Amino acid sequence: MRLPAHASIAQATESLSALLKEAGIAEHHSDARRLVCAAFGITHIDMVLRPDRKGGPEELANLEAFAKRRLLREPVTRILGTRGFWSLELTVRPHVLDPRPDTEVVVEACLDALGARTGDRISILDLGTGSGAIIAALLSECPLARGIAVDLSSEAAAAARHNLAALALSDRAIVLQQSWFDPLPGPFDLVVSNPPYINTGEIGDLDPEVCEFDPVLALDGGFDGLDAYRAIAERIRSWLSHDGILVLEIGATQAGAVKTIFENVGARFLGLRQDYAGHDRAMVWAL
Ligand SMILES: C[S@@+](CC[C@H](N)C(=O)[O-])C[C@H]1O[C@@H](n2cnc3c(N)ncnc32)[C@H](O)[C@@H]1O
Repeated sequence: MRLPAHASIAQATESLSALLKEAGIAEHHSDARRLVCAAFGITHIDMVLRPDRKGGPEELANLEAFAKRRLLREPVTRILGTRGFWSLELTVRPHVLDPRPDTEVVVEACLDALGARTGDRISILDLGTGSGAIIAALLSECPLARGIAVDLSSEAAAAARHNLAALALSDRAIVLQQSWFDPLPGPFDLVVSNPPYINTGEIGDLDPEVCEFDPVLALDGGFDGLDAYRAIAERIRSWLSHDGILVLEIGATQAGAVKTIFENVGARFLGLRQDYAGHDRAMVWAL
């Protein structure tokens, strides 16, 4: 990227935004703003109030380095290493799924389904915890709850442990590095999962930000995207207490197929929730 020497905040933002736009990056303006703020060590407020402030050589070098990475389609959250999720700030690590805003709908569905029980000493199982986003958000909202978070990936388990500790939640959560095919303690009042749900054959067609930076283990749901739902359905009776709740994130076109899988094991459908774009995203079940 060619930035004029001593470019101002406004000039740097404009140049980077134009470059990202040319590279076909849809969110070019907001990405440029976030990267300039990080490179210059300023807030959005500084950016608005002092657009003419010149960048020093170190700040412009930081920005060049960020721009190179973004042009290789690395997501801004991975470049910066953090992501706001729910009311929390999470560390985003390589080889661990970058938690998505859509998954906040899963947290909302859990809290709504729990109702007044959010204040009780409930137990939560988070299957495929990744960065720990869901369990951390739930524990932050349910002050007496305790949870077990499970992930097959050692990088994910380490990331979840790190995030829970950083948020002072680790005394109420245990992270297990294992598969949901391995035995788990139980039963739980709430079982929640955002499992891998992309068809194997479609992973290569996803945006480079996803298929080149999120781990395959977090995306690949098998030939029809439904392997994890079948695995969870087979085991749900041993994990869920008699009055427990199951909440699942699903792909936008999967509601019908996932409904059939869980109805076949006798689960009771409680509801379906859409994400902010209006796509089916979270399903709520009981036994
Ligand atoms: C879509 S990601 C969700 C991550 C996180 N819950 C979130 O919402 O950001 C799915 C997670 O499931 C994990 N996973 C895949 N297969 C698994 C298995 N058999 N047992 C346990 N975890 C698994 C992946 O490593 C990944 O972290």
